[in-house]
Amino acid sequence: MQESKVIIITGGSSGIGRAAALRFASQGDKVLITGRRAGPIEKTMAEHQNIAGLIADTASAEDAERTIAEAIGKWGRLDTLVNNAGAGAILPLSDVAAERIADIFSVNVVGPSLLARAALPHLQATRGTIINISSTFGHRPAAGLSHYAASKAALEHLTRCWALELAPLGIRVNAVAAGPTESGALTGMMGLSAEAAEAVKDEERARIPLGRRGVPDDIARWIVQLAGPASQWMTGQVLAVDGGLGLA
Ligand SMILES: NC(=O)c1ccc[n+]([C@@H]2O[C@H](COP(=O)([O-])OP(=O)(O)OC[C@H]3O[C@@H](n4cnc5c(N)ncnc54)[C@H](OP(=O)(O)O)[C@@H]3O)[C@@H](O)[C@H]2O)c1
Repeated sequence: MQESKVIIITGGSSGIGRAAALRFASQGDKVLITGRRAGPIEKTMAEHQNIAGLIADTASAEDAERTIAEAIGKWGRLDTLVNNAGAGAILPLSDVAAERIADIFSVNVVGPSLLARAALPHLQATRGTIINISSTFGHRPAAGLSHYAASKAALEHLTRCWALELAPLGIRVNAVAAGPTESGALTGMMGLSAEAAEAVKDEERARIPLGRRGVPDDIARWIVQLAGPASQWMTGQVLAVDGGLGLA
């Protein structure tokens, strides 16, 4: 049996992060999930004894330090940081305001950077790994999504730059670029009404070559794979798990 590892997943109380937490936990790893609300964290913790939770906002620099310290305090090591929490909005250029751009970039770019910095010595000690969660729109343009897309493009390039910078320390850095996946994201993070979300889902289903939207576990299984020994000679890659949408 594989040795038990310690994993941090930001935004691990819903959708893709929750599915990854359950997969890691069920293979025996210890998982710390974060989120801003206690309720969903407690619900996810109740699903597996290997899952612990911390209320922390990825947009907060202080919370980045606190998150890493919590995992180290609990289990004394860190093997994998999954930068999964995301922010976004349907945001046409005509509606752009400085705070709205800052809100997106503070969760998708600044937060992952500060978490990664705080994690560095611990990941070096375990020859660990960072996995960033991007989107099809991190490498494909989309009208009305420019700042979300640009923030994910930044995260994909951080992935490649950190991979080079951290390879001498034995730390691998990869990303999973998820395609449209069933989760709370359209009505939550993207702020759509239930009706508008359904219309987007129909349109996406029609465009995805494999003919369906993803489910969180489609993405979670690759997050777990990138953290594991099968990926030990792989770094700096952005793996598209998107039903072929990025090709269409
Ligand atoms: N679903 C998709 O179609 C899709 C496609 C491509 C990429 N992605 C990416 O996948 C990642 C996960 O999305 P999802 O679809 O699984 O979303 P989700 O179901 O809405 O879950 C988001 C999770 O992140 C937490 N969260 C949100 N903002 C946070 C913050 N500032 N600090 C800490 N936690 C925060 C949420 O909990 P709280 O609200 O309680 O904080 C929740 O646990 C995101 O990076 C997203 O951009 C999703």
